[in-house]
Amino acid sequence: MFNIEEFDIKLDTEVIGRNFVYCDEVGSSNRLLLETDEYSKHGTVLLAEFQSQGRGRKERVWLSNSGQNLTFSILLKEKLKENYVNFINLGASLAVAQSIENLYQLKVELKWPNDVLINKKKVAGILLESVSRGNKIDRLVVGIGINVNQPSFQTKFEIPPTSIRSEFNELISRERLLSDILNNFENILTMLHHSSDKILSDWKSRCKMIGEKIKIIEGENAKYGILEDINEKGFLVLKQGENSELIHYGDVTLR
Ligand code: BTN
Repeated sequence: MFNIEEFDIKLDTEVIGRNFVYCDEVGSSNRLLLETDEYSKHGTVLLAEFQSQGRGRKERVWLSNSGQNLTFSILLKEKLKENYVNFINLGASLAVAQSIENLYQLKVELKWPNDVLINKKKVAGILLESVSRGNKIDRLVVGIGINVNQPSFQTKFEIPPTSIRSEFNELISRERLLSDILNNFENILTMLHHSSDKILSDWKSRCKMIGEKIKIIEGENAKYGILEDINEKGFLVLKQGENSELIHYGDVTLR
């Protein structure tokens, strides 16, 4: 069982997670926050012990054992400028990385756009989804799935999965981890206006793929090149010979 009191004591935010919704089972926490009008407060966090239809990027499923991990979504309603969205995306993976490093002294690597890896294995993934009215974003939902205490994984994945417990060799307090991530995430959100370059440099310092030969899969197409940079807007710069191309979306692997 998730101990809400213990979580609340460690939560040090002003808005993120102050409205906290705890559910035993949902289809998808992202979907609930996107589609339910009842949840409309900026900063609402919905934590689900189990998702029967957990969603991953690119229509994939997100599988997570009940009660052992963290599957939660954060609802953002304010300051949703189009050009902040990429930074919120990078910032969410950065917040998770900072918490894992600080609480368990594990070395964390980030993979564009927002995978969190330990020892080359995936420990967390992030899915941003939004609802727009006209050309204005009305709701932005940041969905975060973290393998926390799950001891083993059944299915085969492109990147092998791991959990923090498997890497740290001890049972992890989900309450402490969640509160710490939300604390970091709120700090990052406040940096969006005046120090987004710091978010980017902190993110890039954990990305070991910069300068490496990569392959990017966008739908049916594969592109090859060198991962030159992540630019000031959060897009990937792919160098192919003399030319550079901006990549907005895709799956990156080393080759
Ligand atoms: C990915 O790596 O493909 C992203 C995975 C995102 C999973 C989280 S779990 C909480 C939230 N609700 C969902 O249905 N998905 C996200």
